[in-house]
Amino acid sequence: MSLLKKILITGGAGFIGSHVVRLFVNKYPDCEIVNLDKLTYAGNLENLRDIENKQNYRFIKGDIVDTPAMLKLFSEEKFDGVVHLAAESHVDRSLENPNEFVMTNIIGTVNLLQAALKTWGADSSKRFYHISTDEVYGSAEGSDLFTEQTAIDPQSPYSSSKAGSDHFVKAFYNSFNLPILISRCSNNYGPNHFPEKLIPLMINNLLESKPLPVYGKGENVRDWLYVADHARAIDIIFHKGKTGEVYNVGGNNEWRNIDLVNLLCRVMDKKLQRPEGASAKLITYVKDRPGHDLRYAVDSSKLQNDLGWAPSVTLEIGLEKTVDWYLNNKEWLSRVTSGQYRAYYTQMYEKR
Ligand code: NAD
Ligand code: DAU
Repeated sequence: MSLLKKILITGGAGFIGSHVVRLFVNKYPDCEIVNLDKLTYAGNLENLRDIENKQNYRFIKGDIVDTPAMLKLFSEEKFDGVVHLAAESHVDRSLENPNEFVMTNIIGTVNLLQAALKTWGADSSKRFYHISTDEVYGSAEGSDLFTEQTAIDPQSPYSSSKAGSDHFVKAFYNSFNLPILISRCSNNYGPNHFPEKLIPLMINNLLESKPLPVYGKGENVRDWLYVADHARAIDIIFHKGKTGEVYNVGGNNEWRNIDLVNLLCRVMDKKLQRPEGASAKLITYVKDRPGHDLRYAVDSSKLQNDLGWAPSVTLEIGLEKTVDWYLNNKEWLSRVTSGQYRAYYTQMYEKR
């Protein structure tokens, strides 16, 4: 397909979004990349310092829930494509405040779909790409893997809001021929990951010698993917994927939480020159997450066979790279863990 010249990326100041913005800005110097982000607690323009002065990059502060603002933005800017990542993304927060997840993840997505439809009609040269999650499938049974045909069965308010948005994206394809794409990815990790999620939270606590809160018995399984591999998949799906299709993205890297935390402890002992076993002593089993999905495991053979993508990094290598990044970016970590975050985390932790 011909190159899409002007691309809107929503949520580009967040964890995955910032990696996607950087990849697109550097790889497509002839394309204009517009990053729209509300800059919630999870959005941080510091993530994009290295590319913020590039000629083909522009940041707009905006809220996807604001219907008139989105209609105006689309009619003025005339985007050729949208990569939609903006979302409330943390399961624990969705248990505390589901309304915010409905607003951003469902209403916000529908606003973008409406704005795209109003400006594009059914123009098949355009692309609306929605970044979804494997969590919409619920928990994987036995040794089954999620395929694109697996029934949607979300369990948490977060995954329900993502499933709702997926349905709306599909509905705009079925009802109006809006050229859409959806991908459903497993757990990402890597640089710039906000330290409320398992891996960066554990790294931060290890640096502060605080307890490492493992939910339940630590037997839940996640399929881990290094964030740069997800960004590459997003680029390939956006440019080469078939509209109307769903693509699963997974790392082929299933780990029980407790095994992953133990591996991380070993890496941290080595990097911080602590005695072997010192970090693991901080592991503390805490009350389980309500409705905690037991296992996520993704079959991404459609993406691998049809579009030629493959993950490039094993968890062992990716984890070392991630730890190195956090050790070299302690100011980033201390800035994002101060103020409001610290108050929220303390309150959540005390509840357990
Ligand atoms: P994140 O929480 O790090 O970033 C979300 C970004 O969206 C932030 O920059 C935030 O400011 C912005 N945002 C939130 N509400 C907004 C609004 N109303 N208007 C505009 N911007 C808003 O999330 P992430 O982990 O980078 O996830 C990005 C996307 O990928 C999400 O859609 C998420 O569901 C999906 N996803 C994440 C993972 C993962 O492991 N992190 C895996 C699969 C899919
Ligand atoms: O699968 C994709 C999803 O992965 C994304 O859609 C979400 O946006 C992303 O947040 C992530 O969801 P999880 O709930 O799997 O990620 P989280 O890092 O919160 O938790 C990973 C596992 O670790 C999960 O089984 C819960 C457990 N956990 C988490 C935290 C924060 C703990 O045991 N202790 C913790 O303190």
